[in-house]
Amino acid sequence: MKTTALYFSATYTTKRVVEAVAAELSKETVTYDITNDSSSDAVTIPSDELLVVGVPVYAGRVPAMAVERLRRFKGDNTPAVVIAVYGNRHYDDAVLELHDIMKECGFRTVAAGAFVAQHSIFPKVGTARPDTEDFADIRMFVEKTAAQLAADFGEIEIPGNRPYKVPGGIPIWPTASRKCTGCGACARLCPTGAIDTSSPRGVDKKKCIKCGRCIVVCPKRARRFYGIKYSIAAARFNNAFATRRANEMWFAEKK
Ligand SMILES: Cc1cc2nc3c(=O)[nH]c(=O)nc-3n(C[C@H](O)[C@H](O)[C@H](O)COP(=O)(O)O)c2cc1C
Ligand code: SF4
Ligand code: SF4
Repeated sequence: MKTTALYFSATYTTKRVVEAVAAELSKETVTYDITNDSSSDAVTIPSDELLVVGVPVYAGRVPAMAVERLRRFKGDNTPAVVIAVYGNRHYDDAVLELHDIMKECGFRTVAAGAFVAQHSIFPKVGTARPDTEDFADIRMFVEKTAAQLAADFGEIEIPGNRPYKVPGGIPIWPTASRKCTGCGACARLCPTGAIDTSSPRGVDKKKCIKCGRCIVVCPKRARRFYGIKYSIAAARFNNAFATRRANEMWFAEKK
């Protein structure tokens, strides 16, 4: 089955999960990375193909920037595998929201998953995930999804609430230390254009979505969240969400 892999992924964990699922399900895959792609050109995926779509969870929701970018993908009652990748706190309403968005765009969810990855703001939570155990879960998810696709399938029940959670946030933004050489990699790869190439140590607080990409792409490890507010939040967060959470999966009913 020809498959489209579609993801928003600032620190590349969602990319890894979506690509692993798509590669296990199909030998013929077309990939769309919408993290830095603001194109509005419509892409239609016909009913005899498959979509594997993934987003990270931001404050229990689909990242607002991803919502806009997902809407140009249109299905024709096309099956979709819906994935949210989250940092070991909780996915809240994000899987349900992603399912709803894709349904509005003409897709029917055959399977959905909430997979755990390293937290992109608090990397001591979920550190180095997805790991070997997670990829074993991903293989099991793919096997069950393939069985669903081979049969006729109906509705799917996904946990979450409507209206969705109202996203909150903490007043922290990443900046660079004196180790910054001004190479500009962070500015080029920032999904929102929040870093000025001529002074890349700073950040435009109005544009920054705290996605963490500038931190992971900096070759000098110069960028991170600094300051007392971050340290306090990190200490609380690391303590509250230290226990390893399991990946969760849901499948449509068999007809
Ligand atoms: C702004 C922001 C909000 C986040 N909110 C949540 C959350 O509500 N629950 C959670 O478990 N992880 C949360 N995370 C962590 C990410 O979901 C997680 O690190 C994910 O793997 C990032 O995906 P990516 O590597 O594809 O960017 C948040 C991360 C960011 C940047
Ligand atoms: S400046 Fe903000 S939006 Fe840009 S990559 Fe860094 S965290 Fe993401
Ligand atoms: S990627 Fe790092 S070294 Fe390069 S400009 Fe950005 S902060 Fe400076």
